[in-house]
Amino acid sequence: MIHLLQGDITKQDCDCIVNAANSSLLGGGGVDGAIHRAAGPELLQECRTLHGCKTGQAKLTKGYQLKAKYVIHTVGPIYEGTRENAEELHDCYWNSLSLVREHQIHSIVFPSISTGVYGYPLKLAAPIALSAIKEWQKANADYECTISMIAYDDHTYEAYQQALREQEKN
Ligand code: APR
Repeated sequence: MIHLLQGDITKQDCDCIVNAANSSLLGGGGVDGAIHRAAGPELLQECRTLHGCKTGQAKLTKGYQLKAKYVIHTVGPIYEGTRENAEELHDCYWNSLSLVREHQIHSIVFPSISTGVYGYPLKLAAPIALSAIKEWQKANADYECTISMIAYDDHTYEAYQQALREQEKN
């Protein structure tokens, strides 16, 4: 089961929110900017100690002034239409989820990675995101974790709603 929400990820009261970061991990615009603004300057201080992050990889920090205890920073692909892009996007969700057990995270909220500044078409990204999450849930059926996707705008919400319907049909 993947929950679909609409709203501001920085307001979510959950164990962990995921940041669509860039490889420097030093902040930026979009959801990255919003999360850093809401978490406060200590988030950037901790990010500086991580020495960046490769595309498709994920790194965890504390949440500081956020309601969420943790932030998992992952770097999505800049869309160029390659097969590698699809694999990297899948890896963002998979590698973020692979951190939840060791940190006893039982509720996690994802934004729609790479579909903003990084230009990944929503119709292509949504099914990749949902299938990566579903694949991880199948492989970790023994581990209780509420997984949500939060859309900031209606267009994104509708794209994930459609992709969820498609996934349930298959
Ligand atoms: N809450 C939830 N979702 C949000 C929020 C928010 N407060 N702000 C933006 N979003 C949504 C966008 O509407 C989009 O659907 O997050 C999704 C990802 O968009 P971006 O933030 O642009 O991220 P991305 O496309 O992965 O590009 C990453 O942008 O901000 C920079 O530093 C970041 O260089 C990196 C690049």
